[in-house]
Amino acid sequence: MRKKIVAGNWKMNMTPSEAVALAETLKPLVATSEADVVFCVPAVDIVPVVNAVKGTNIEVGAENLYFEDKGAYTGEISADMILDAGAKYVVIGHSERREYFKETDEIVNKKVLKALEKGLTPILCCGESLTQREQGITIEWVRMQIKIALQGVSAEEAEKIVIAYEPIWAIGTGKTATTEQAQEVCGAIRVVLGEIYGCETAEKIRIQYGGSVNEGNAAELFAQPDIDGGLVGGASLKPGFGVIANA
Ligand code: PGA
Repeated sequence: MRKKIVAGNWKMNMTPSEAVALAETLKPLVATSEADVVFCVPAVDIVPVVNAVKGTNIEVGAENLYFEDKGAYTGEISADMILDAGAKYVVIGHSERREYFKETDEIVNKKVLKALEKGLTPILCCGESLTQREQGITIEWVRMQIKIALQGVSAEEAEKIVIAYEPIWAIGTGKTATTEQAQEVCGAIRVVLGEIYGCETAEKIRIQYGGSVNEGNAAELFAQPDIDGGLVGGASLKPGFGVIANA
């Protein structure tokens, strides 16, 4: 039985002081033993948020990392920095990073490998654009993203990964995928995981849905057989995130 996992993706929102205030507000609202709850926050917010949520059920994640250990990579942050700051998760390959920062599937793969090597849990994002959905290539596209992102990842390591299926057309648009659309792709992701690693491993890997998840639709989405929680953007910055975490 896979434990649900609900993660907030704060994106480029919340200064350190705002972040602490939000964490304090959300703390009592997201208290649950039924699901893992993660706040993925901007790099400068990691330390203050880790301190703010000490002793609670909440874990903290970064929103990105660089795949080299250290060195002359101005502006980047490493897996060791994230870990030492107290975070345990890292979002990798979000569509906004792919689109605005030109991250390729190959870069995403290197980041996944580095996160696993260092003991960070990757939340690996995938998902199709509206054009790709209209072209009828959603499943092929997402299968390819997953296959490239997991190159060189062993079955044992793959079990630790969280996959987030996020149709790009549903992110921040208020246009959620229907539960059928979300389940169809999450189910297809489990099929490809089974092809790579075998059914037993595929059954252990948690797959989230993301894209305009809110208080009203979370419970139905999370009740689908292959949806093990959500990656939540806009709604994770509001008290309603408590309702989503408990859905
Ligand atoms: P949204 O973002 O919930 O605001 O659509 C989801 C995400 O980008 O992770």
